[in-house]
Amino acid sequence: MKYFRLLLLLAFCLIPTASAQDEPYRDSAMPIEARVEDLLARMSLEEKIGQMTLVEKNSIAPDDITGLAIGGLLSGGGGYPQPNTPENWAAMVDGFQEYALATPLGIPLIYGVDAVHGHNNVFGATIFPHNIGLGATRNPQLVAETARITALEMAATGIFWNYAPVVAVPQDIRWGRTYEGFSEDTVLVTELATAYLNGLQGEDLAVLGTPKHFVGDGGAVWGSSTTNNYALDQGVTDVDEETLRAVHLPPYQAAVQNGALSIMISFSSWGGMKMHAQQYLITDVLKGELGFSGFVVSDWGGIDQISPDYAAAVVTAINAGVDMNMVPYDYRRFIGVVEAAVERGDISLERIDDAVRRILRVKFALGLFEQPFHVAELLADVGSAEHRAVAREAVSESLVLLKNEGDALPLPADLNTVFVVGTAADDIGLQNGGWTIEWQGVPGDSTIGTTMLEAVEASVSDQTTVIFSPSGRFRDAVDANGQLLRADVAIVVLAEAPYAEGQGDREDLNLPEGNVTLLERVRERADRVVVILLSGRPLIINDALEQADAFVAAWLPGTEGLGVTDALFGYRPFTGTLPHSWPASMDHVPLERMLNSAVAPLFPFGFGLTTTATRDFADAPAITDVYVP
Ligand code: BGC
Ligand code: BGC
Repeated sequence: MKYFRLLLLLAFCLIPTASAQDEPYRDSAMPIEARVEDLLARMSLEEKIGQMTLVEKNSIAPDDITGLAIGGLLSGGGGYPQPNTPENWAAMVDGFQEYALATPLGIPLIYGVDAVHGHNNVFGATIFPHNIGLGATRNPQLVAETARITALEMAATGIFWNYAPVVAVPQDIRWGRTYEGFSEDTVLVTELATAYLNGLQGEDLAVLGTPKHFVGDGGAVWGSSTTNNYALDQGVTDVDEETLRAVHLPPYQAAVQNGALSIMISFSSWGGMKMHAQQYLITDVLKGELGFSGFVVSDWGGIDQISPDYAAAVVTAINAGVDMNMVPYDYRRFIGVVEAAVERGDISLERIDDAVRRILRVKFALGLFEQPFHVAELLADVGSAEHRAVAREAVSESLVLLKNEGDALPLPADLNTVFVVGTAADDIGLQNGGWTIEWQGVPGDSTIGTTMLEAVEASVSDQTTVIFSPSGRFRDAVDANGQLLRADVAIVVLAEAPYAEGQGDREDLNLPEGNVTLLERVRERADRVVVILLSGRPLIINDALEQADAFVAAWLPGTEGLGVTDALFGYRPFTGTLPHSWPASMDHVPLERMLNSAVAPLFPFGFGLTTTATRDFADAPAITDVYVP
């Protein structure tokens, strides 16, 4: 067989009339490594550097994809087409792909996106709980299923590369990226991140995952950031190598063993050096010791942070082992700098070839040469009721019941009056949090989904009156005699405003004072008060907890409000357990201080009250408002 291929190859070289389509690298029956070598041998230096360049889609002049043989494009957070529909995404990405296929070698683009809780930049897509909520489920099969569905919705839009999962092990909940990680616990992160990766990639690499951010991003110290007005994000991970290896490295070990073929470098620093410059960790540890055979991608302009001297920064990063540079803006500058560095001998041709081999290997493995465009049959399933049913289940399993005095939950069916309280009770954007439609997330009707209020209305009996008040005043809630109505139950939804990355770094995690006064007010009008907290991390809730009969940590659940009401109304049990220790005060933050404190945490890691289902899930309300193309 091999000889036969070799003969064929020779024959093609000798017969000048052989069509370009017959080149060996295009033959999907050839072994991947042989395709890589065949293609690499045909590439000019310019084409190789093009493959190492990953450009943000709003910055690219489409003709440059062809002219500069660009290797990859991405949508950053909020990088959607206008109008934002799944169909338009597919058309946009296919359109860019055409420019790449028009190059002499026709190497397809790899297009990337942060689909970190579902395909979350896409209007109408299924939005799952953020990872912190999945951490509370302790359910690897379910996590894998959420990732599999994410992959299907991505493939529908022609995107086969996901900048997920975040495998950070957040040690300080003041970090704005806490919710992107599964847990404070390395073992749990490793288990769920591996499940996610396997679900996303499948048996035959349906969509490429990208464990990030290598390595130690979750260990950065408060106040050490030098980026913008950030405090912790992109800061310094101040631990010795033993701790770095024990706490932060294991998820990468597992990921590589489970077929990770792209890994993103962290903006953070370790040992006085930016991660993007760490030859020891990237080349010796990741590629050498762990045996990572895929490609290393930089974070957004991450290389630029190594040094104010851009050329020096690029040389350092590439020689440290970064294979593909995520260039948000000026890709011509990057390409020019690499060309000059190769000419000067500052970057060897061997290093360039190594980087390009790694990138091509993954493009072949992904099947991009055979299937460069969107998978049209899958478009109809984006945001389908079937997909959202899985998200709904994930929401139910992610809920952690922190208090349940007098068995306040589950709620009985025969309620007369239910008050629903809080702006967040009718706000899909607040349920979703950051990384949803926009980079920072956005309050309000940003996408399709079921709000808490809608979910409550769908869950109560026909005899029940549901009254909503954002402020919890209920001045107009009076009976026929003009008497102020009293509710059997008030469901109060409290929420953090959406944020992402360092913009979510917060020194003070105390629940705002106003939330407690709101609860006091509501208590006077309701027999039982159930609090639902939407947040990207534990907050200091002591006073609010006192005002509540039942208190539910719902994290950032996504589009499926019914997942919350299913548990409230007994269609599903509460089973979730804390993925983070819950501090009793800010003196307990970061985690290390809680572990060394004489005062106990408010709730320990793994805490969670349980209930049993009181109703048949088959009778629970259906998801109705699905996306229709
Ligand atoms: C984030 C990455 C993300 C990238 C692209 C960066 O700011 O740190 O996690 O993948 O942007 O959106
Ligand atoms: C992009 C994000 C990116 C961030 C980095 C934003 O403009 O939308 O994807 O992570 O910039 O600063």
